[in-house]
Amino acid sequence: MKYYSLPPFRIKMVEPIKQITKEERIERLKEAGFNPFRLKSEDVFIDLLTDSGTGAMSHYQWSALMMGDEAYAGSRSFYRLEKAVKDITGYKYVIPAHQGRGAEQVALPNLIKRKGMYVISNIHFDTTRAHVELAGGRALDCACEECFDLSLDYPFKGNFNIIKLKELIEEKGKDNIAAIIMTITNNSAGGQPVSLENMREVNKIARMNSIPIVIDGARYAENSYFIKLREKGYNEKSVRDIAKETFDLADVFLMSSKKDGLVNIGGLIAIKDNEELFRQCQVRVIPMEGFPTYGGLSGRDMDALAVGLNEALEEDYLQYRLDEIRYLGDKLQEGGVPIQYPTGGHAVFVDCGAICPQIPFDQFPAQVVCNELYIEGGIRAVEIGSLLLGRDPDTHENLKADKEFMRLTIPRRTYTLEHLNYVARCLIEVCKRGKELKGLDFVYESPILRHFTAEFKPKE
Ligand code: F0G
Repeated sequence: MKYYSLPPFRIKMVEPIKQITKEERIERLKEAGFNPFRLKSEDVFIDLLTDSGTGAMSHYQWSALMMGDEAYAGSRSFYRLEKAVKDITGYKYVIPAHQGRGAEQVALPNLIKRKGMYVISNIHFDTTRAHVELAGGRALDCACEECFDLSLDYPFKGNFNIIKLKELIEEKGKDNIAAIIMTITNNSAGGQPVSLENMREVNKIARMNSIPIVIDGARYAENSYFIKLREKGYNEKSVRDIAKETFDLADVFLMSSKKDGLVNIGGLIAIKDNEELFRQCQVRVIPMEGFPTYGGLSGRDMDALAVGLNEALEEDYLQYRLDEIRYLGDKLQEGGVPIQYPTGGHAVFVDCGAICPQIPFDQFPAQVVCNELYIEGGIRAVEIGSLLLGRDPDTHENLKADKEFMRLTIPRRTYTLEHLNYVARCLIEVCKRGKELKGLDFVYESPILRHFTAEFKPKE
């Protein structure tokens, strides 16, 4: 018997969910242009689209909401949030934003000083890539080889490929690199962790070449707990100390707080000590997000976040969190479903290229499996493959992703293991008909971030 740790909470309030019939689901999916993003959530039974802003707040957070100070400038809530962020990161400057992409649109253009500058990341998240490109930059991914070998048991599949990183800097010229973004955990590689050893090497290379380091830390707490579990020498350290050591290696922290902030909305920019960059972000945040002491958040949002940031570092919570993902991964593997193994911090990534090898990458095999899973069980998942990757900004050719993933993303403190058992059962059924499934053609495709709004029709 494998051991999975128990949830360190009990349920105080529930949100009823209902399941519509299979016939209704087929109809709803057609209306949605075969794109689960376009479904109404009331038509979804179990929503695994994202772990972003979909978690449950604790009663400490709900009571903190009542303390919200809704002042435009200098609210008490801001100073409570600022203190929490400074305590965790050790950074000097803190600016809230309405969510992660708000933080990106404020900070990234201040780093990308010239058109055509490069930003290198282990893997850019899609909005991060979009903001690099909107600021005139070019986003380069530099993931370690191990992350593409899905069955390889490797502890830090989120790592940078250090040799490739050095080569990229050499090839493009260090003065043309605007920043290195360490995405922790590495969402697009399967929520896979990045080791401190790897981040230290990235830091050494960046320092040698005077390139700023940004942490894209939506899930930095989950990453820190993986380090505690897997990295030599860290088992006895607290997650808080590990997180601090991580932040010491970077200059800027951008966060979508909708993940490890345990809130439904919110984002953060924190800057270690670069006063000039802080001033530039202060100037930009006002027209883009809001005054620098609220950045698009209400006082109550900031108070809930101040509490959530600390709760997400509690180790019994993190142990349960990583175990529920592992549980779903184990159930799927037992049923023969190909997944990124070991499982990451927020989701199980399913290898849909292996489930339906007959579907070419530009007919989006993982989107096809997402649609089938919805029809099978009212479960909404998300494509992380060639559809999400989009087109080359210069040639406009469809880019081919390394893997055609479907992400089963688990919201925090929201679903029970019974729900996850059901998800596994439904997906195992879908896999049985994988080889018979047909690809998709675009009916509508937007020029940027196409996966959100695209409409499709199934191939004849
Ligand atoms: N960075 C990473 C690593 C993310 O995973 C996300 C969002 C963002 C930045 C942007 O933050 O949504 O608050 O604006 N990820 C969500 C997801 C949407 O489903 O993975 P945001």
